Amino acid sequence: MKTYIAVLTIILCTCVQAHWQVVQQWPAPTSPHYEPTWESLDQRPIPQWYQEAKFGIFLHWGLFSVPAVKAWLWYLWKGPNPEMDIVQYMQDNYPPDWTYADFGPLFKAEFFDPYLWADIFNASGARYVVLTSKHHEGFCMWPSKYSWNWNSMDVGPNRDLVGDLASAIRAKTNLKFGLYHSLFEFFNPLYLADKKNSFTTQDFVRSKTMPELYELVNRYKPEVVWSDGDWEADSKYWNSTNFLSWLYNDSPVKDTVVTNDRWGSDTNCKHGGFFTCNDKYNPGTVQKHKFEDATIMDKYGWSYRDQVKASDINTMDELTQLLAEVVSCGGNLLLNVGPTKEGRIAAIFEERLRQMGQWLGVNGEAIYATTPWIRANDTVTPGVWYTSKKSDSGDTDVYAIVLDWPQNDTLTLGVPGIAAGTKVSMLGYSRPVSFTRNPQGQMVVNMPVIPFYQMPCDYAWALKLQGLANA
Ligand SMILES: *[C@@H]1O[C@H](CO)[C@@H](O)[C@H](O)[C@H]1NC(C)=O
Ligand SMILES: *[C@@H]1O[C@H](CO)[C@@H](O)[C@H](O)[C@H]1NC(C)=O
Ligand SMILES: *[C@@H]1O[C@H](CO)[C@@H](O)[C@H](O)[C@H]1NC(C)=O
Ligand SMILES: *[C@@H]1O[C@H](CO)[C@@H](O)[C@H](O)[C@H]1NC(C)=O
Repeated sequence: MKTYIAVLTIILCTCVQAHWQVVQQWPAPTSPHYEPTWESLDQRPIPQWYQEAKFGIFLHWGLFSVPAVKAWLWYLWKGPNPEMDIVQYMQDNYPPDWTYADFGPLFKAEFFDPYLWADIFNASGARYVVLTSKHHEGFCMWPSKYSWNWNSMDVGPNRDLVGDLASAIRAKTNLKFGLYHSLFEFFNPLYLADKKNSFTTQDFVRSKTMPELYELVNRYKPEVVWSDGDWEADSKYWNSTNFLSWLYNDSPVKDTVVTNDRWGSDTNCKHGGFFTCNDKYNPGTVQKHKFEDATIMDKYGWSYRDQVKASDINTMDELTQLLAEVVSCGGNLLLNVGPTKEGRIAAIFEERLRQMGQWLGVNGEAIYATTPWIRANDTVTPGVWYTSKKSDSGDTDVYAIVLDWPQNDTLTLGVPGIAAGTKVSMLGYSRPVSFTRNPQGQMVVNMPVIPFYQMPCDYAWALKLQGLANA
């Protein structure tokens, strides 16, 4: 009996203690409540992780990866204004009665190894990945309750591609997982009916778009919801503000999720989370609002192309330039790669991604978690882009990313102000770098003559400028 009482007391005490702890932890810091209006939604700060991430990978993968010509193939072939090249291509390469749906069974993703993808993405130095869950063709890359026979479980791979990639990324890496989703679908009869009614009816939104978005968020908890396909109708038709207020107030990712600005013909570059404006948005000057440059590694397409050539692929010189420009202006770079219908990241994309990771391994300090400096680029020497960061001692360090090594090893910089304690070094190179002041008072850096085996990288060198007068 005594033991019984003792045990009971212990249990009771533990419970009271546990309860007390719960009470002490409650209430949690109250998160703000967002109304379903743009005025309210636009107040939400961009989560810190996204501010610091700077570099993400975009994946355009879907049924269009089977013909492997263009993500818009269906529309350019069968839409109101066909593109003659595409019509001819289909005539030359497919039987006369071929339909777009016939690509379904040919999409097998038989070599899709999400763990290999996770390894490549992690090695690239990217901090997030965004996959097309559904492009404008309407084909869902997950077993959606709202898509009968037009999804990757019922047709083609017989696999939950979204879920399998989400699990592998989360199991193997610290990258954030995000989803692209197209609001409209080229030929969905419900959408076309709403459109015929000048978007005064919302049958497509009510029965397809919105249920799909809630399903995606509840099931896969994406930390980026990258909306697209919004432009034919305004955000009232799409019911976007109602969805976003739920996303920010009550969804399972309410505190960490980031969205873009493609929520209706009235929102692009104006409302939402980060601004994408037009595709390949690279403004060249410091921006007030967080932006993302969504751009392509294959200069001629978002989805994998059978006819891709090595010369179509951005070089590392071009990619480091792009990253430096975008980050200096306050943006993130979302670099697109198109996986193949077999579920492979083609070797040339893989190599480029791994090279990005090597470059970031040396120069990441000048990229991740930086903020724009007083100017995005230098005023004297072209191709020098600045970022800045508070150091542990509370000073502001400035980074000058130098895209072209100066011919005579001297680099004149118009923006940095020299002070008594100013120090210059190069990321990945251990010796200090010397500099002088020219008659105009500008900093002239003597770029070190480095033996090739000590060269920190082959393109875009980052100088660290400490103790500047105008830091
Ligand atoms: C991911 O990349 C980081 C940085 O390169 C590396 O330290 C880490 O080991 C990688 N993780 C995996 C699972 O490969
Ligand atoms: C729009 O969202 C509200 C709030 O969630 C919902 O009550 C309404 O049914 C939605 N309308 C459509 C067309 O989806
Ligand atoms: C700085 O960048 C802007 C925008 O790209 C460009 O117009 C300007 O010429 C650049 N400055 C120099 C010195 O290259
Ligand atoms: C180095 O080259 C730059 C650009 O061509 C030129 O402006 C500068 O005068 C040169 N400096 C020296 C020391 O030759």
